[in-house]
Amino acid sequence: MADAANRSGRRQFWDSRFSEPGYAYGEQPNDFLRESCQGLAPGDALSLCEGEGRNAVYLARRGFRVTAIDFSEVGLAKARALAARHQVEITTVVVDLADFDLGYARWDLVLSIFAQPASAVRQRLYRQLHQALRPNGKLVLECKVETDGAADNRYPGAQILCDELSPLSISLVREQERELNEGRYHLGMKRTAQILAVNAAPVAAAP
Ligand SMILES: C[S@@+](CC[C@H](N)C(=O)[O-])C[C@H]1O[C@@H](n2cnc3c(N)ncnc32)[C@H](O)[C@@H]1O
Repeated sequence: MADAANRSGRRQFWDSRFSEPGYAYGEQPNDFLRESCQGLAPGDALSLCEGEGRNAVYLARRGFRVTAIDFSEVGLAKARALAARHQVEITTVVVDLADFDLGYARWDLVLSIFAQPASAVRQRLYRQLHQALRPNGKLVLECKVETDGAADNRYPGAQILCDELSPLSISLVREQERELNEGRYHLGMKRTAQILAVNAAPVAAAP
């Protein structure tokens, strides 16, 4: 009961933010996504907590078939509008991450840019990634780091995230203070973790 109320409150928060005029995090893709995508062949991409579409549209413009998920219908409506403006298609799915199944050998790229779910939800998703990514599939992740000792840490440091991502191979990891310049809400110096991980280990046969 409390959990349902919590979820509904969070969804309302994001619907309200995305109801403001303009694009809360801008229309340009995240820097780390741009950097990580250089030389990547297009394929099937899943963007977690996509919001208003800046990253999904960037990938679609690079030839990826993109599925963008988020629990904010308001955000995803703006994502579709941004895609239409750039004359590309994206698939949007309104779903709570807590209820989402990533599937089996389904994705060449999974994107998690400033998705900060509760730690239990994050850990469940990360456990699914090895099965959900195709061989050599990639995870591109950037998130805020706030090690404030909160009981449910949505913002852990890069080391904890890398441990949780096992058995994916970590190709690049950075934890740093960096200047964000993404729309109205990501501005100024913030501590972030950036991780590029690859599904290098063989995936077991489908159950
Ligand atoms: C900081 S915004 C980042 C949006 C986008 N990834 C970007 O970088 O522009 C966080 C996003 O996570 C979504 N979100 C938060 N909790 C979620 C959940 N439990 N299930 C699905 N989406 C969620 C919000 O609706 C919002 O779009």
